Amino acid sequence: MIKKKYNQCFDVCERNSQYLKLSIDRSKGKLPEMEVAKAYSKIISQLKLKNFSILDVGCLTGHFYFSFKKRINKKFTYFGIDPWKNHINAAKRIWNKDNNVDFKLGWAQKIPHKKKFDVVICSNVLTHIPEITVPLKEMLRVTNKYLILRTPIHDKSYRIQMVLNSKWFKYTNVPPAKEFDKKGNPMAYEYFDVHSRDFMSSVVKKINPKSKIKFIKDNFFNKKLIMNKKEKKLASTRVINGMQVADLLILPHHFVIIKK
Ligand SMILES: C[S@@+](CC[C@H](N)C(=O)[O-])C[C@H]1O[C@@H](n2cnc3c(N)ncnc32)[C@H](O)[C@@H]1O
Repeated sequence: MIKKKYNQCFDVCERNSQYLKLSIDRSKGKLPEMEVAKAYSKIISQLKLKNFSILDVGCLTGHFYFSFKKRINKKFTYFGIDPWKNHINAAKRIWNKDNNVDFKLGWAQKIPHKKKFDVVICSNVLTHIPEITVPLKEMLRVTNKYLILRTPIHDKSYRIQMVLNSKWFKYTNVPPAKEFDKKGNPMAYEYFDVHSRDFMSSVVKKINPKSKIKFIKDNFFNKKLIMNKKEKKLASTRVINGMQVADLLILPHHFVIIKK
């Protein structure tokens, strides 16, 4: 049996020590910052906020904090949540001397905070979650001013699953012959969903009718820096004709800025 919660597979993160090491090295500044972390720093810096709080949903080991500290020239506190113990324990170890941060174990579907944060961010996470209305409701519940998502957005939605097998992904026990069950469903997988602008807007408006929503295409990246061949990920990014491509998927990344 493959361990799952909210229809997400544990195989993707629970034992993926390679991904964990990558994130630890990035959080410690031993690897280059991600282009998306730089973009978030720019967007947050431009908000008319001072002395504010940030909640990072799906924070991995808190590598965004490394970039924010360096690039956001304002006073802020940073909180991170992630569902995987290995990510959160590593984050706590890395940042244990920093009083400005706090990390908690938690899912976007059930955020372990009662208080609100001025800025809530969620980067490269919603695409991996098959049902996004509950996470959006949760994130808006804890948002005081801005919720800023970074996720693939298009005029149509696509349901996409990358199917894992043990031949090329050593953290799953599913052999190639068993990739699909008898009903044709993948055994171990990672979603890479694309959501339509209309669906995203209607979900947000239903939860929070007064909110303002803005879609900004992610053109912030530097092509050379984003194509770091040394970094081994499930689907590393390449740029083809100006579009970000992960393995064979074109990912139309956008920042979705929701103002409450
Ligand atoms: C692709 S990584 C993105 C990490 C970071 N936000 C970034 O943009 O570099 C996805 C992260 O989301 C976390 N994650 C996966 N499912 C989640 C969920 N349901 N709620 C919160 N975080 C989740 C994973 O553990 C992982 O750290």
